[in-house]
Amino acid sequence: MSETTADPTAATHDGRTTPARRGAAYDSAFLRACRNEPVPHTPVWFMRQAGRSLPEYLKVRDGIPMLESCMRPELVKEITLQPVRRHKVDAAIFFSDIVVPLKAVGIDVDIKPGVGPVIADPIRSFEDLRRLRPLEPDDVPYITEAIGLLVDELGGTPLIGFAGAPYTLASYLVEGGPSKNHENTKAMMYGQPELWAALVDRLADITSAFLKVQIEAGASAVQLFDSWVGSLAPDDYRRSVMPASTKVFDAVAEYDVPKIHFGVGTGELLGLMGQAGADIVGVDWRVPLNVAAERVGPGKGLQGNLDPAVLFAPTEVVEAKAREVLDAARALGTSGHIFNLGHGVLPSMDPDALSRLVAYVHEASAR
Ligand code: CP3
Repeated sequence: MSETTADPTAATHDGRTTPARRGAAYDSAFLRACRNEPVPHTPVWFMRQAGRSLPEYLKVRDGIPMLESCMRPELVKEITLQPVRRHKVDAAIFFSDIVVPLKAVGIDVDIKPGVGPVIADPIRSFEDLRRLRPLEPDDVPYITEAIGLLVDELGGTPLIGFAGAPYTLASYLVEGGPSKNHENTKAMMYGQPELWAALVDRLADITSAFLKVQIEAGASAVQLFDSWVGSLAPDDYRRSVMPASTKVFDAVAEYDVPKIHFGVGTGELLGLMGQAGADIVGVDWRVPLNVAAERVGPGKGLQGNLDPAVLFAPTEVVEAKAREVLDAARALGTSGHIFNLGHGVLPSMDPDALSRLVAYVHEASAR
């Protein structure tokens, strides 16, 4: 396939050519829904679909620490493909982690099983901030290599690249690990606003660079995870977080790839998160899609929003609840809906229940 500007899949609007092989997924249900074009069925994928509950994942990961596994391109390819093969989801999400770019710039971070990311020396001062240098593409050659392998193999199935948003990354860096109340993070945000602004600005640059590497390598959509931003009030989000998240979306705006933005417990922030620059806003299960649509406003798609815990109920209940999500989306009269869970797959989830849900969504939404 040649990269000519006449091919809409091969060049972005500013003339920057992107890998022509991305064209193979251009007409997939997922990318069509992202563009709000008619779809044969509602596309479905699951946040955290790679790994966790799959026996084939646990087998290939056996004995390999999480962050090390993210640096092995063949392994990354295999783990990314596993849920696509098994569940027949409409998109793959790249197997990596939001802390990979932090590790790549030299931050001492580890992912402890059952805990999450742990940072050896938290960032709490301007002096600490000097340890957070910019990310160069050469810092993550394994990402470029893994995505190259994947897009060749995925063919018409789109690959979603992703990164952590500045607030969520800052919360790990400042707290030193997972946190329920984000007290140190908020203490810095409220008490040392200049340090906070400098921190999230640096993280915005690292995240932008990480997303660009994935897009240049062939990812056909990106999702910015601001998992923990729901802990903020709208005014604080607008003042202290939105400029950094907007900077990330602006940095990748030159590429012709859809941008999804997601956080948990973000009912009050949905409008602002859309304004930060996303094409599609991810919604958790606490806000019905029709209410989310009003908050997000016209011109943007929605992704969500089945409560992950519903998957532990009998199949009839899962299907009835999935139907409610599909009906709510259909009532909006838009093709711009991507079915997903309201947050990620849980480790104890039955993989077969997820496969059945994919088949149900496809069948119940067939146009
Ligand atoms: O579908 C996928 O799972 C794709 C890859 C992916 C991982 N992490 C792999 C992973 C993605 C998209 C993420 C994003 C991520 N990582 C987020 C945002 C998404 C969300 O859930 O809100 C966050 C907050 C993190 C940080 C993180 N990394 C956490 C909280 C954990 C869980 C710790 C645990 O063991 O419960 C991780 C580890 C992690 N990242 C695992 C996987 C598959 C589990 C590690 C393992 O299997 O040993």
